[in-house]
Amino acid sequence: MATRAITNTIVYRQYTGESDLPHIMSLVQHELSEPYVIYTYRYFLRQWPHLSFLACPNENSDPVGVIVCKQSMHKETQNRGYIAMLSVHRDWRKRGIASTLVRRSLAIMKLHGVEEVVLETEFDNSAALSLYESLGFIREKRLFRFYLNGKDAFRLVLVVPPNSEDQQDDIDLSPVPARPLFLAPPRMIPVPPLPYDADEPSAR
Ligand SMILES: CC(C)(COP(=O)(O)OP(=O)(O)OC[C@H]1O[C@@H](n2cnc3c(N)ncnc32)[C@H](O)[C@@H]1OP(=O)(O)O)[C@@H](O)C(=O)NCCC(=O)NCCS
Repeated sequence: MATRAITNTIVYRQYTGESDLPHIMSLVQHELSEPYVIYTYRYFLRQWPHLSFLACPNENSDPVGVIVCKQSMHKETQNRGYIAMLSVHRDWRKRGIASTLVRRSLAIMKLHGVEEVVLETEFDNSAALSLYESLGFIREKRLFRFYLNGKDAFRLVLVVPPNSEDQQDDIDLSPVPARPLFLAPPRMIPVPPLPYDADEPSAR
């Protein structure tokens, strides 16, 4: 069962399956320059559904914000999180939705021993740079003509100290929604798998 939390009337919930996909694609396609194909969305959402969250104005409304992430071992030595997509509908910005989505994904990554979290954003995306830097990310390097539109990117990184705990009191993180995939066994927290793929027989 997905976890839910209500913060300032916004309902935050995990990705629940393919029925969320059209909303996620709509939110991302309208705002991010990269033309992702549906397989890219499924690559992330089917393997790391527990790291993707949606923000909805209420329980029954369509999402107005989304974050899509992954977490895996980098070069077999580093437990690395990656924020692939983040988008908030224009009518719902500047209310803390994006920062809450990022913090929720980070909290789950931390439960699974993440050591660093990385992402790329366009070098002139001042909103995203300001958002991530306010959460502790730093600019690691500039990537020349990284995007298909020819723009440079900044790679941002957040170094996560061992045993760091999430300070967000208003988020209910139980039950821990995670699947033991792609993570270092010694640092795993044993939790039962979730039924995300019940209607997606080809997912695993
Ligand atoms: C970037 C984006 C996700 C921010 O969403 P949001 O819900 O408005 O962000 P928040 O309300 O959580 O803002 C948190 C902080 O981010 C920064 N920020 C957000 N929007 C900003 C803007 N337009 N200009 C400058 N700083 C901004 C501020 O530091 C803000 O804190 P404050 O409100 O205390 O000043 C949203 O503008 C968006 O969807 N943009 C298009 C897609 C995109 O660029 N995604 C990121 C790609 S990696």
